[in-house]
Amino acid sequence: MKDSTHKHIAIFASGRGSNAQAIIDHFKGNTAIKVALIVTNNKTAGVIQIAKDNRIPFDIISPAELKEEETTLDLLELYQIDLIVLAGFLLLIPAYLVKAYPNKIINIHPALLPKYGGKGMYGSKVHETVLSNKETETGITIHYVNEKYDEGEYIAQFRCHVEPSDSTETITAKVHKLEHEHYPKEIEKLLS
Ligand code: GRF
Repeated sequence: MKDSTHKHIAIFASGRGSNAQAIIDHFKGNTAIKVALIVTNNKTAGVIQIAKDNRIPFDIISPAELKEEETTLDLLELYQIDLIVLAGFLLLIPAYLVKAYPNKIINIHPALLPKYGGKGMYGSKVHETVLSNKETETGITIHYVNEKYDEGEYIAQFRCHVEPSDSTETITAKVHKLEHEHYPKEIEKLLS
């Protein structure tokens, strides 16, 4: 399964998968790093089509399976995963997985943590709260994953302005732009 020349990334995603797509595009043709596996808990997630289109193996995992240590670790070992990249993955990463992959699981959050993080703070909810609090800036946080939602050590943060004329949609677009630009590069730095 593993060619000795490549580091292997597993992307965990629950939704549309635009970050997964950006990461796949970034590493296409890379001789040292490749996306080797996509894992989702949602059988209708857009990321499944992205996996198929890019001929990347994917696995649909139930919340119960994610809690089964052996099932998940076997899967990750089979694909010899070096780094687990969460990109819109909505299930909490269990403690055994954090332990098995120390500093090898990262997440992207669509706000400047510690603001607007934690359980339930995802998707448009984050941007709606940023808007209603009249923030003048928001951004993204790339961070290591520990057993608590959005509380691991930060790797990098990137900012954008929030204008009075912004809506949830325009903030979503600005934040996605930052994510697509920076997440692949930060992953590359970590694996180089
Ligand atoms: C991103 O905004 C990411 O920050 C958050 O979930 C969203 C996933 O979007 N964790 P996509 O599925 O990659 O388009």
